[in-house]
Amino acid sequence: VIDIRKLYAATGAFTYDPGFTSTASCQSALTYIDGDEGILLHRGYPIDQLAEQSSFMEVSYLLLNGELPSAKELESFTYTISRHTMLHEQLATFYRGFRRDAHPMAIMCGVVGALSAFYHDSTDINDPKQRMIASHRLIAKMPTIAAMAYKYSVGQPFLYPRNDLSYTANFLRMTFGVPAEEYEVDPVIESAMDKIFILHADHEQNASTSTVRLAGSSGANPFACIAAGIACLWGPAHGGANEAALNMLREIGTPDRIPEYIARAKNKDDPFRLMGFGHRVYKNFDPRAKVLGKAATEVLDKLGISDPVLDTARELERIALSDQYFIDKKLYPNVDFYSGVILSAIGFPTTMFTVLFALARTVGWVAQWNEMISDPEQKIGRPRQLYTGPAMRDYVPVAKR
Ligand code: ACO
Repeated sequence: VIDIRKLYAATGAFTYDPGFTSTASCQSALTYIDGDEGILLHRGYPIDQLAEQSSFMEVSYLLLNGELPSAKELESFTYTISRHTMLHEQLATFYRGFRRDAHPMAIMCGVVGALSAFYHDSTDINDPKQRMIASHRLIAKMPTIAAMAYKYSVGQPFLYPRNDLSYTANFLRMTFGVPAEEYEVDPVIESAMDKIFILHADHEQNASTSTVRLAGSSGANPFACIAAGIACLWGPAHGGANEAALNMLREIGTPDRIPEYIARAKNKDDPFRLMGFGHRVYKNFDPRAKVLGKAATEVLDKLGISDPVLDTARELERIALSDQYFIDKKLYPNVDFYSGVILSAIGFPTTMFTVLFALARTVGWVAQWNEMISDPEQKIGRPRQLYTGPAMRDYVPVAKR
């Protein structure tokens, strides 16, 4: 009888690393994270500088092409994206097959997965031009797809894109506008939304990006790969956490109930975790949470909204950061802690939060996917395993069992 575990150990060929905590699955020049210092760079540029001074279109160009665009390059890129915002009309019919109360992420998985049935002319992954067209299509169509998922859920007619508006203003109009009325995009909301998109654009080899790369490594078409990424992002430990974080803050309700929830989070017999806290890589403040914490106050102030949820969030952060359990385990607020407060102030229902994350992360997914396909060392992703089943044994006919 062969003890496979001994065999693995003897050959030294395998690393058993559940959750890939210390295994690099690829090389990448897109995003750098120093989790101990709380640093996040895209192509070398600090995330706080990009969030404060740049735009989502500019960051998209940077991630896809490697350098910040010149004014002319940015204009041309923005124009190209705006020309791809329409969806094939037949896709509107596809939406109508879903129940009205379907979770919009369920609709996103289906509609994005279906794009390869409509855009066959950009599915040859060996042609760099087709890869770029598919990437532009995905970045451009995602706001339309997301807004339509929202409109469908509230029973309102779909709005066609307006290509004279900015990427973010067009998305806000398609989401909150109605055909009979002119929709004025509030510049405060537009700027906050754009910032949220920048902060979610890429985050190196997180679960959904790794899923996109793994799916893409088999040669699957880009639309199918991004649909796989959306499915992975939906989980509450990943993109679903901002929805969970806001629900938790609402459940806590008032700052006086925080100690009860802190006690629950520390109790190992209780599966409850403080949502929006902790991160696989950041063992310090998530730099995105810093930007969003500030933005939450700005947006609510400018919109004249007084939301007790923000007070609860601030107090929870203060108490948790001085609690020995959270200090010892290096648990800090992550990007999801404050984003929900802002999105809710803008008017999005919690079910749309992960959809917005998917919209923004699409640029990171396509940039990572392009980088992977262009890498000469690229191989099909095929992890090994540590086998724990029975050793070899002879089949026993059913009559003798
Ligand atoms: N509340 C209470 N305790 C926590 C929390 C939390 N939010 N997060 C981690 N811990 C504890 C764990 O119980 C564990 O304790 P133990 O060592 O006594 O067993 C320890 O800290 C380490 O936790 P792991 O789950 O092993 O850490 P991992 O790196 O695998 O998980 C994760 C990271 C999934 C983000 C985790 O911190 C978590 O579940 N957080 C809440 C969900 C969340 O906010 N997710 C968003 C992540 S960011 C994003 O996807 C964009």
